[in-house]
Amino acid sequence: MATGRRIIKNNIEHFLSSIKCNYKCNEPLSKHTTLCIGGNTDYFVEVETEEQLLSLLKFINENKVKFFVIGGGSNILFSDEGFNGIVIKLSGKFYKYEIFQNIVVCGSAVSLTYLAQQTAEQGLSGLELLSGIPGTVGGAVYGNAGVKNCSISDIIDKIEVVDYFGNKKVLTKNDIKFEYRKSDLQGNIITKIFLVLKKADKNDILKTISQELKRRKSSQPIGTKNAGCIFKNPKDDSAGRLIDSLKLKSYSVGGIKISDVHANFFINKDNGCAKDMISLIDFVRNEVYKKYNIKLETEIKIIK
Ligand code: EPU
Repeated sequence: MATGRRIIKNNIEHFLSSIKCNYKCNEPLSKHTTLCIGGNTDYFVEVETEEQLLSLLKFINENKVKFFVIGGGSNILFSDEGFNGIVIKLSGKFYKYEIFQNIVVCGSAVSLTYLAQQTAEQGLSGLELLSGIPGTVGGAVYGNAGVKNCSISDIIDKIEVVDYFGNKKVLTKNDIKFEYRKSDLQGNIITKIFLVLKKADKNDILKTISQELKRRKSSQPIGTKNAGCIFKNPKDDSAGRLIDSLKLKSYSVGGIKISDVHANFFINKDNGCAKDMISLIDFVRNEVYKKYNIKLETEIKIIK
């Protein structure tokens, strides 16, 4: 390693130790994504408190280090070359949640499906249809995750964020622009979410969760290495239906295969890599465009 790189490396490691952050060097991102794809990141840092996050952002800004904040790794494609910088994962205090009557105050690293189950047990309704969506609550808010006729933005009261320059902000639902599978929260790290749920019969909510999980199990390739739906649905149609209509189920490029259960899920079946995934995405997008004159937009975030 060149002397300059070594100085930066020593600086970063010294700094991370000084703020007591757990970190790993040259960590494979394939270990942190549901697709099990991605080369190494220079540093993989677990941030456990807001104080650590603020200190780290200050260091990042002062040293102009590239960084990326990962949630559950369920909606993301890192390149095979990996990430030249710091990948931050919120953990520790960000896994905590509290319930005050019908208000849930939740750290952004809490699993969405886990929270749905926990709130159902307390007789609180609002998250049951989102049960089974992989990933964290923070990630779900960022991408406005949802199912048909129900998105997480429906139940948000406010959120706390830290912007990339280290400024803390509280944003009410009206401050945020939510669209289908999209928010305008880029440039912010979501740290806490306040959700408003409704009191309801616990057994009814648990029944809905169980039906939702059953429906998913029969219509989606649960248990495989995938990143959920690859493309957003075009207006008034389903990307899965369009791809299926082209008889592309089971079609593969390298180790990546289009699911034979749901055509908008691409599965890493055989040591597939990001390059294969991108080729398959481009191929499918092109085929759909040729046949239907519709340009599919990816729902997964591609990090180059
Ligand atoms: N369909 C096909 N072939 C397929 C897949 C679907 O013909 O291979 C048909 C289905 O039979 C159905 C229609 O297309 O008539 C819609 O399919 P589905 O109910 O599976 O919903 P979707 O529009 O494909 C959306 C979300 C999913 C969410 C489901 C259920 C998007 C991009 N996808 O899928 O979310 O689980 O509704 O509510 O909005 C995700 O966001 O990652 C995701 C998986």
